Amino acid sequence: MAGEKVVETTGLLGWVDRRFPLTTLWKAHLSEYYAPKNFNFWYFFGSLALLVLVIQIVTGIFMVMHYKPDAALAFTSVEYIMREVPYGWIIRYMHSTGASMFFVVVYLHMLRGLFYGSYRKPRELVWIFGVAIFLCLMAEAFFGYLLPWGQMSFWGAQVIVNLFSAIPYVGPDLSIWIRGDFVVSDATLNRFFAFHVIAIPLVLIGLVVAHLIALHEVGSNNPDGVEIKEKKDANGRPLDGIPFHPYYSVHDLMGVVGFLMVFAAIMFFAPTMGGYFLEANNFLPADAFKTPPHIAPVWYFTPFYSMLRATTDEFTWVLVALALIFAVGLLFSKNLKGIWKIIFPVILVLLAVALRVYDAKFWGVVIMGGTVVILGFLPWLDQSPVKSIRYRPGWHKLVYAVFLIDFVILGIIGTKAPSPVLNIISQVGTLIYLAFFLFMPIWSRLGTFKKVPDRVTFHPH
Ligand code: HEM
Repeated sequence: MAGEKVVETTGLLGWVDRRFPLTTLWKAHLSEYYAPKNFNFWYFFGSLALLVLVIQIVTGIFMVMHYKPDAALAFTSVEYIMREVPYGWIIRYMHSTGASMFFVVVYLHMLRGLFYGSYRKPRELVWIFGVAIFLCLMAEAFFGYLLPWGQMSFWGAQVIVNLFSAIPYVGPDLSIWIRGDFVVSDATLNRFFAFHVIAIPLVLIGLVVAHLIALHEVGSNNPDGVEIKEKKDANGRPLDGIPFHPYYSVHDLMGVVGFLMVFAAIMFFAPTMGGYFLEANNFLPADAFKTPPHIAPVWYFTPFYSMLRATTDEFTWVLVALALIFAVGLLFSKNLKGIWKIIFPVILVLLAVALRVYDAKFWGVVIMGGTVVILGFLPWLDQSPVKSIRYRPGWHKLVYAVFLIDFVILGIIGTKAPSPVLNIISQVGTLIYLAFFLFMPIWSRLGTFKKVPDRVTFHPH
């Protein structure tokens, strides 16, 4: 792109082009960006994520015009937006529905990556930027949730910030430093506001730009996992590629229309989604003297929250036992050679000791964070000879199905009050989640793989 000849144009465009690479950028990223011609339904979610990002920023700007980041005024300023500001209720419901829909879209977008091996070489960085975006989104949603200063805002923040106090040595001071006080207070609200409206959005936008630059450098994957750049015509254009604009710009517009219909239906007819998008307790002002009977995060955090709660003292014993079994297994493994035969088992034994030295609350935090971060290692954990699920052995699909059902069950349990039975289910669910990733280098190689075609499969419709 940089250094390429500017397209000679006359008029206003010519004037701009001689000063700014507008046509060059347009061609490189839209009219001459060749995308595989076999994109399907799952490829709508990238552009939809961009759409929701814009919705959140625009509605957010209007909310900030009326919102007051002050513990004495925040709750009533939101009520003022809902009742007094012209169309304020639409803006607020767009923003709250947008937050949940962002996660719906991003979860489906990530699922597509998992199905088609879109994280595999050469798209590792596209994926890693994606995981960083996911972490930022989680932070953005968490900080934003404190702002209405309702009961769930207050107590949710209290629970999550308290988790940091479980970190050995620095934890208690760290949680005070994060809150800026001994309890969640006006100081906390002010700093969370700063993070929510400027710091995290800036990082998020930067990461999304990096995500797309990385994607356009290597080109898009597709449902067959075939690299279209390997088969080009005499002009150097991929045989199975079509220009993003106008083909996919129009195609994505259809996705946008469908999505906005669902979005509007939720916003106008079920903005709270039965308590999943907006929790009932958050319509009560924050009260530091009244703990709600059941504190649960919003649905998109609940699978990870479940894994946090699953990590009880007894559960760390299970992890100790597993670490020791694997240490012995590795010691006798024929696949491990030389110094690694000592190093890996020693690491596992040290882990087993650490599991008993530090308390379960700390390990819960480690598991909750680790289960998100592990996604970033997917490009190297997956050793399958093919990218797309289409050409994998049938039982691999079953493994994915078990993983997905497990994730949904963990999510459901995370919304419920804890009970001994649910706790055991969430512990089994946590082990399945971890096993899916930790054993991937082994299971992803096994079975009979189908032959990947040279060209993408495409049925005109
Ligand atoms: C604000 C959030 C995000 C935005 C706006 C965004 C945007 C996009 C867009 C526009 C595309 C190209 C169109 C498409 O393939 O659907 C894309 C591709 C991709 N994204 Fe994202 N993305 C986001 C989050 C994520 C996350 C959280 C991940 C994974 C952890 C991710 C992983 C990928 C991958 C692997 C591709 C390439 C897919 C392929 O070529 O098959 N993205 N993204």
